[in-house]
Amino acid sequence: MDTIDRGGSEPSADQETSKRTSAGNPSQTTRPKESWGTRAGVILAVTGSAVGLGNFLRFPGLAAQYEGGAFMIPYFISLLLLGLPLAWAEWAMGRYGGVRGFNSCPGIFRVVWRNRLAPYLGLFGLIVPVMIYMYYVFIESWCLGYAWKYLTGAMNLGREPEKYAAFFNAFTGMSEDGAIFHGEGETVMTFLIVCIIINFFLIYRGLNKGIEMFCLYAMPLLVIIALVILGRVLTLGTPDSAHPDRNVLAGLGFMWNPRVGDKTLLEALLNPKMWIQAAGQIFFSLSVGFGVIITYSSYLKRNDDIALSSTTAVAGNEFCEVSLGGMITIPAAYIFLGAGAVGGVFALGFKTLPLVFEQMPAGRIFGFLFFFLLFLAAVTSSLSMLQPAIAFLEEGLGLGRRASVSILGFITLVGNGIVVYFSRDAAALGAMDFWVGTFCIYILAMIQTLLFGWALGTRRGMEELSCGAQLRIPGWFPFVIRFVSPIFLLAIFLSWLADSFMKDFTESLSSNGGRIAMIFIAICCGLFLLLIAQAVRRWNRESPLDTIEP
Ligand code: ALA
Repeated sequence: MDTIDRGGSEPSADQETSKRTSAGNPSQTTRPKESWGTRAGVILAVTGSAVGLGNFLRFPGLAAQYEGGAFMIPYFISLLLLGLPLAWAEWAMGRYGGVRGFNSCPGIFRVVWRNRLAPYLGLFGLIVPVMIYMYYVFIESWCLGYAWKYLTGAMNLGREPEKYAAFFNAFTGMSEDGAIFHGEGETVMTFLIVCIIINFFLIYRGLNKGIEMFCLYAMPLLVIIALVILGRVLTLGTPDSAHPDRNVLAGLGFMWNPRVGDKTLLEALLNPKMWIQAAGQIFFSLSVGFGVIITYSSYLKRNDDIALSSTTAVAGNEFCEVSLGGMITIPAAYIFLGAGAVGGVFALGFKTLPLVFEQMPAGRIFGFLFFFLLFLAAVTSSLSMLQPAIAFLEEGLGLGRRASVSILGFITLVGNGIVVYFSRDAAALGAMDFWVGTFCIYILAMIQTLLFGWALGTRRGMEELSCGAQLRIPGWFPFVIRFVSPIFLLAIFLSWLADSFMKDFTESLSSNGGRIAMIFIAICCGLFLLLIAQAVRRWNRESPLDTIEP
């Protein structure tokens, strides 16, 4: 395993006051110093952030919903024109900011674009990960709860689909607001508390001893479990002789063949919603436009490779998504239950698949493995969503680890409380996913594309990417990131506005939960803006821009 040059002693949670000086400004900045321990560690941490529920539930659910293989066309186009270029841009801007002493989005944007507005644009790089965490960890706790129930043999509900739906609704409080707090029957509460403790414990331990250490073990384990489950699914043959059409090949065909019905492939591709969803999936899955990668890569050293590492992380995510996620979930559901059973993302994961495991030989073991795999994948992602805000509280406000973790813990607990209390039909979760997990991601992705392509500039951006590079970034990248990505992004955003934005918007505000979530998002934005203003005053005092290396 390559060891990254640390250029100093390894930090720990207690070494909050170790000094860091920004390049070109050697004496003025006092900040917590952290760095990745190994090259494999940083790649696994970024891949861990990317590989999550999106790979094993969201991707197969969307592909099945949008004409199977036809979905892969906008999906791969979005990967090449948005996902990969933005990943390179984020890695490059992150390290550029990191070697100049900044690890948070507002700080990095401030050195990339030396304009007074720049740090405030970093708001999106804070609220997107933090607020996605608030509902993501709730879903993570469902996975842990289901895994536990399989392990202890408590998930034996027979073969009636209604029982699985009733169990899911009661367990997650989907039937009534406040149901989880009423204490009737078993709910996900205990598992949620466990998940929150795990996340904050690892974040408190820090980048190297928390995030990196966990990902070094969790990621290989996750891939091994996924390969075992894939082996099981691909060797199922035709389990029910009464339904010879429900076999492995037909299941894979259902997932991968373009099903355009009475439409031509071209007509299917003209559905704007499919393009919007495909681009959204690329962002969600790769964790680009999240504010996460830019923070993670800011902990690299000046001569560490970023070109090969970023490409490897993208490739690793795509392997997990397309080759593992895409070949497990839908084919398994199709083989046992037929095409009609493949429902929406949550229904597929938490109502349909348990019914599949019930019918599968050794289903209890595979049920446990599957939900444990989802849990591991979710933790490596949710962890990464906390680090950007921790980095900001530490470097922007000069807080120590304990104080930053406590403040962030309090803010996210309030958000968790709203998501968990307004659980009827996942109203608060849906509203946060709409505003933060979709709308704000587009905005942040657009800001990052413009900052890299126009503010930093592609000449300096390419220099940054090629410094220490073990892979040559293709010559088309500067043109794509300057012109193609923003135009493509804008086109998709405008199609969304024209197609279904108003419907999604109205829906997100149609319940108490949605409205409260919206107010909470506005309060968090206001709070973080105030904190950024405070951080800017501090940075202007301690590391004025004219003392920082251009
Ligand atoms: N990238 C993470 C996922 O796919 C958020 O779940």
